[in-house]
Amino acid sequence: MTVLVFLDPGFPEGRLADGSEPQLMATDLGATRGDGIFESMLAVDGKPRKMAAHLDRLGSSAQALDLVPPARDAWERAVATALAQLMLQAGPGEAVVKLLLTRGAEGAASPTAWVAASPLPAGSRERTADGLAVLLLDRGYDSTLAERAPWLLLGAKTLSYAVNMAALRYAKANGADDVIFTSSDGKVLEGPTSSVILAVEEDGVKTLLTPELESGILPGTTQRALFDAAEAAGWARGYGPLEPVHLMEADAVWLVSSIRLLAPVTSIDGTPISSSPALTEELTSLLREALSEA
Ligand SMILES: Cc1ncc(COP(=O)(O)O)c(C=O)c1O
Repeated sequence: MTVLVFLDPGFPEGRLADGSEPQLMATDLGATRGDGIFESMLAVDGKPRKMAAHLDRLGSSAQALDLVPPARDAWERAVATALAQLMLQAGPGEAVVKLLLTRGAEGAASPTAWVAASPLPAGSRERTADGLAVLLLDRGYDSTLAERAPWLLLGAKTLSYAVNMAALRYAKANGADDVIFTSSDGKVLEGPTSSVILAVEEDGVKTLLTPELESGILPGTTQRALFDAAEAAGWARGYGPLEPVHLMEADAVWLVSSIRLLAPVTSIDGTPISSSPALTEELTSLLREALSEA
């Protein structure tokens, strides 16, 4: 079940549309060229989580693509309409809320913008809780390319996710669950739909590490929320460059994202790595608490 709400100037609260009927022009450049951006956000019992951070990132992605997004309050009202409708249809619980913005139908002067809300598929988080077998896959460019080649839109959350989905299929076809991309100069980047975080403890100092944002990765809103919450709880934080050896030697590694939260990695390229259910539990509860306030 998917509730759709289009951002339409004639409908200040957003225009509800039937999710089981076609709604987009077949010439929409989001569909024909992947020319658009999106956000995936968690909602719990009708309340969006860290919406401001998602709207900030939507704004940066829009800027990278020279798209003019609708105003923040228009998104906020459309999300509220979608979630109210979802609560009516599906009741309370966790939901996936997508914000989508395309360059619009060919020849049209305005972008297409809509919100799609659906219940979190049952069991989807539990499936990753036992741990992920991950493959390291080469993304084919070096970690300094983002600065030199802004037209590649590295770091923007574009609708062109075909490569990310192909990487996940490649992992599944090769007996793994997920992927961590590496750069051609051997740096750890991110997952196809997640940020990479690792924990190390040295001389009694617990530290969370993640690759540096300048390496052409998407700035993760979950990674940031978790780092802030962990720092407030006494953890140190650090940013890469990280290499595969750091993953192999860490006390624990997770793939994190808005919907999945923390998914522990238990093997890399078939080699078991250290994981810690206690750390996963500690950090998940810190994150959930932070999210309930964001
Ligand atoms: C490529 C990529 N990196 C990182 C993330 C994690 O971002 P967030 O924590 O904001 O969901 C995502 C989320 O879908 C992603 O697609």
